[in-house]
Amino acid sequence: MNAHDFTQERFTLQPLSDLMGAEVIGLDLRQPFDPDIKAAVHKAFLDYQLLVFRDQNLTKDEQVVFTEQFGTLERHAVRNRGTSDHPLVHIVSNLDESGKPMGKVRSDKWHTDKSFRPEPSMATILHAQTLPPDGGDTVFVNMYAAFDGLNQATKDKIRSLNVVHSWATSREHEGRPVTAEEKRDAPDNVHPLARIHPETGRTAIFIGMHASHIDGWSFEEGRAFVVELEESVTRAPYLFRHKWQAGDLLMWDNRCLLHRAEANFDARKFPRILHRTCLRGTATQ
Ligand code: OGA
Ligand code: MN
Repeated sequence: MNAHDFTQERFTLQPLSDLMGAEVIGLDLRQPFDPDIKAAVHKAFLDYQLLVFRDQNLTKDEQVVFTEQFGTLERHAVRNRGTSDHPLVHIVSNLDESGKPMGKVRSDKWHTDKSFRPEPSMATILHAQTLPPDGGDTVFVNMYAAFDGLNQATKDKIRSLNVVHSWATSREHEGRPVTAEEKRDAPDNVHPLARIHPETGRTAIFIGMHASHIDGWSFEEGRAFVVELEESVTRAPYLFRHKWQAGDLLMWDNRCLLHRAEANFDARKFPRILHRTCLRGTATQ
């Protein structure tokens, strides 16, 4: 895990673990990247899946400009209050309508963003605004490593299966059933369970909270299989924990990582606010 000094590219890459993650040191994200830097950052994103940029202070507009260097910005399925002044930047927070911390932390189940879409998100960019004194971590699972860790028979089986991702089902599991209109806006979609990453060619297990059941199997049998698979891989040695620091900006690859927020802080007392942009991905098959 030696730091790599991209002398020509003017930044340093410090790997954060053997599993995933690298800190990108020396770049001010308010400045648009020149083509060489952009290519090197993009390569690091593919190599490390999760990039951490420290000590940033981007406005919403600057975050949008940073994000758009790497693809097409995605609009959000659900408009939230905080987006009224800037529809492209989603506010991730534990605040209630009156702006007070509520006990609940959203996105605390394993998932990959918008996997219920025909073209699930390629990447998510999350920029810390207000953090609790401690905790409120974001935890990731490397689904390449999880796939690589399966035995050959399971790999072969998984390669032959497709999985239904359903926003309606994941919302039901959360006790918040969708309306007919919301369901029309986000119908179910089928993806390969062993997803080939379009840029690296590596295989990743493509599941998470929106993964409902196996296409072509009975719902019960397929649901049990998906739940068991998720339980078996969302553990050491496939986990990486990010402990937030003020100014952090994370960029991760949704095509090969699962993530979730962890409510390891007093969410009734302390605000936790982050700005989020997403990049559109491509069809999975
Ligand atoms: C997200 C998300 C996790 C977190 O914004 O997509 O899952 O730690 N956030 O808040
Ligand atoms: Mn998410």
